[in-house]
Amino acid sequence: MQGLRALVSLGLLVGGARLGARANFCASPQGVTGGGGAPCREYRAGGGAMAGGLKYLSQEEAQAVDEELFNEYKFSVDQLMELAGLSCATAIAKAYPVSSFTSSLPSVLVVCGPGNNGGDGLVCARHLKLFGYEPAIHYPKQPNKTLFENLTTQCRKMDIPFLPEFPHEAKVIDGAYNLVIDAIFGFSFKGAVREPFGNILSTLKHITVPIASVDIPSGWDVEKGNPDGIQPDMLISLTAPKQSARHFTGRYHYLGGRFVPVALQEKYKLNLPSYPETDCVLKL
Ligand SMILES: NC(=O)c1ccc[n+]([C@@H]2O[C@H](COP(=O)([O-])OP(=O)(O)OC[C@H]3O[C@@H](n4cnc5c(N)ncnc54)[C@H](OP(=O)(O)O)[C@@H]3O)[C@@H](O)[C@H]2O)c1
Ligand SMILES: *[C@@H]1O[C@H](CO)[C@@H](O)[C@H](O)[C@H]1NC(C)=O
Ligand SMILES: *[C@@H]1O[C@H](CO)[C@@H](O)[C@H](O)[C@H]1NC(C)=O
Repeated sequence: MQGLRALVSLGLLVGGARLGARANFCASPQGVTGGGGAPCREYRAGGGAMAGGLKYLSQEEAQAVDEELFNEYKFSVDQLMELAGLSCATAIAKAYPVSSFTSSLPSVLVVCGPGNNGGDGLVCARHLKLFGYEPAIHYPKQPNKTLFENLTTQCRKMDIPFLPEFPHEAKVIDGAYNLVIDAIFGFSFKGAVREPFGNILSTLKHITVPIASVDIPSGWDVEKGNPDGIQPDMLISLTAPKQSARHFTGRYHYLGGRFVPVALQEKYKLNLPSYPETDCVLKL
């Protein structure tokens, strides 16, 4: 294991990142207080906020937008997954730049679930590798579908290892990885968590390396959140934040998935802020 090296770099990462992050911290636009008690500045919308502010979607609305993108606007799943996964990797590289780690190849554990959220994780891992990180993937429930088989082949061919076993001791994860990406469940999550994900999430609650969650912190109710669940350091909301994002208290909340046509934004009154220039992510 590269335990010591990873721990040392973690110390630098957390220490260094905390100093810089507080000044920029801003809670959700409707004034819900975020973590750390930092004063919340006016929501920065990049100049494009409309009256009413950014919409936080219910589960039903998130699924309706999703269906419309595919059925009416004729996007394909792999198209949007590529943009979503690229957004996640880009946001992660902004929040935790390679240069903030002492190891030249910061190691990242990407945990992927059985649905499209997991697919976003596979795409994210591939881009992180290209960005200079050293990702490893745990993917315990791989669906028997060519889309996911293609994505796993791409990762394997880029020498991204798939871990057959999840490291169930928090300190093993802390020793071996600088960062964990939670791509387990997204907006279709419902009910009590089923295994093997219950055990995985229990372990993730006890790690000290930062967790970055894709779209929704896994194990959280899409609308109500979960005060007893994992508390990620970063959340990348795709398309638009879901209602549970109001309960996010970590340091970095990014919006990604810059692919929603204007007519669809208007139909669902998303009030999306304007992304800077050609960026595919926006810090909220
Ligand atoms: N359209 C978009 O806007 C868009 C674009 C790009 C990416 N995405 C991504 O796609 C995600 C949504 O993907 P999705 O609809 O495939 O769903 P998902 O949120 O990835 O989750 C669905 C999977 O999770 C399992 N699951 C649900 N509840 C569970 C529980 N309590 N315990 C264990 N497993 C559970 C389901 O298993 P069962 O089938 O057995 O129930 C299913 O396999 C978004 O969050 C986002 O990350 C969406
Ligand atoms: C996977 O799906 C294919 C066809 O879609 C089927 O022939 C095959 O038996 C399935 N394999 C498993 C392990 O379910
Ligand atoms: C998987 O890859 C093959 C080969 O490129 C391609 O023909 C197929 O359409 C892909 N499937 C999906 C669902 O993306």
